[in-house]
Parts: sequence; C-alpha cells; structure tokens
Amino acid sequence: MVKRVKTGIRGFDELVQGGFPIASTILLTGSPGTGKTIFGLQFLYNGASKFNEKGLYVTFEQTERALVEQAKLFGWDFEKYLKNKSIQILHISTREINQETTKSIVEKVMKEKIHRLVIDSISTLAINAPIYTFMTDTALIDISNGRSFFSPPIVGDFIVKRFIYSFIDDLRNVDHCTTIMISESPEKGEYLSRDTISEFVCDGIIHIVFESMGGEFSRSLLVRKMRHTKNDEDIHPLEINNKGLVVHSTEK
Ligand SMILES: Nc1ncnc2c1ncn2[C@@H]1O[C@H](COP(=O)(O)OP(=O)(O)OP(=O)(O)O)[C@@H](O)[C@H]1O
Ligand SMILES: [Mg+2]
Repeated sequence: MVKRVKTGIRGFDELVQGGFPIASTILLTGSPGTGKTIFGLQFLYNGASKFNEKGLYVTFEQTERALVEQAKLFGWDFEKYLKNKSIQILHISTREINQETTKSIVEKVMKEKIHRLVIDSISTLAINAPIYTFMTDTALIDISNGRSFFSPPIVGDFIVKRFIYSFIDDLRNVDHCTTIMISESPEKGEYLSRDTISEFVCDGIIHIVFESMGGEFSRSLLVRKMRHTKNDEDIHPLEINNKGLVVHSTEK
C-alpha cells in the first residue's frame, strides 16, 4: 500500500485516493493568480496544524512577511508555527541562486526532517539557473567534443534542464519529504511548464486554469497525472473563499 500525504484541502484528497504518494514531487502549474501560492501555503499549514508534519516554504518571489500576511487572510496563523519551527519560510533572492542553492535546500530537508516542501517557483529557479557555472560539466564536454564552444541558447537550455532534473532527482531520494513544485504554465503551447522537463520528471501534475466561461471568469483544477494512483480525471471547479481553497465536485 502506498503511504499518502493529505493536503487537507477540502475536496482535493479524494481525487488522488486520499493524498499524494509519500516522497513524491508534484508539479502545481497554472497561469498567474490562479491560487498556486495559496495551495502551497494551505498544504504546509494543514501539515503543521492537523498532521504534526514539518514544512518548508522556499520562495524566490515573495518575502516571508508577504506570505505570512497572505496566509492571515485565510485565518492561518503562520507566526505560531514559525515560532516553533514546524513551518519555515526561506526567501532566496533570485540574485543569490547558484548551483549550491538546490543542494542546500535538499540538505536542509534531510537534516531537519522536513515532511512537506514547497518550491515557489521552479519557473523562477529555472530562469535564474546558473548557466555559466556548469561549464565543466562532463556531459557538456562530451557534446562539445572537448573543444570550446559558444552556443548559449541551445546549451543554456540543456543546462537548465539538467539543473531542474537533478534537483527533482535529489529530492526523490529523501523518503520522508513530499514536494510541491509551483510552476507557471505557458498560456499556449504543448508544454505545461516553461522549462518543458519538470512535467515529465515529476510524479504528479496538478493544473489550475483560470478562464472565462460565458463572460465570467472561474478557476478549475485537473489532476493531470499522479503516479501510483488511480486519480480522478475530471475538471473540477476550484473556489477560493475566506478559508482557502475548496475543490468542488464536477457538475455533470
Ligand atoms: N480572500 C480571498 N478570497 C477570494 N479570492 C482570493 C482571496 N485572496 C486571494 N484571492 C485570489 O487569489 C489570487 C492569488 O492567489 P495566489 O497568490 O495563490 O496566486 P498564484 O497562482 O500564486 O499567482 P502568481 O502566479 O502571480 O504567483 C488573487 O489573484 C485573488 O484572485
Ligand atoms: Mg504565487
């Protein structure tokens, strides 16, 4: 039996047989303002308050203050859990991202026995990935035939993919931690993530869409993939109310 990690988000866990498979990495993708950050905060808050599980929120975008304030709007008292370290928020500025960044996140998760990790966002991480510091990477020497080369767009893209791939791979080896990777989905195109690789490497994908239905905008959620799970395949209305997210059953 696969051990499952409950999000505690109303209406969500039953779509995935009770929760995310433990130690999985889930890509949470959607366009701006769809509720991705709220999902991540709720996952950690419920973890700490209902299941006594330690959470780490890594943000490259909002400050700790801003996230705590955002959580307060839904009645989630993050300060209480920040004080006893059952939730931690790690704000890393994009200028500080280097090849040690992902390593130090994984190390922290292992050392401090973090159960729930949120990365907000993998898109920002990928855009700021340390392209030039990887020049000695073996695979690069192979493809360049040992010669020097200069082809930033193609090689840069390749390095970013490897960077993302190895981060997700490293997390896979931490058997006590379940990860949500937040990702911006391109508005159009065949890929769900901008880096075009994380959707294949991650164990699950949740896609949130914000679109106009007969003139009114509304949110919906789809579990696009979930390894080891017979997941629900319908598109569900998603509501943000004053207690957080609620996933509704499909109107048939
Ligand atoms: N109390 C509330 N009630 C209803 N809707 C809310 C409430 N608070 C925020 N929202 C909605 O949630 C959205 C923000 O959610 P969130 O920050 O999780 O989005 P996001 O997907 O992380 O966006 P981004 O890609 O810009 O980071 C707002 O645009 C607003 O529409
Ligand atoms: Mg956000």
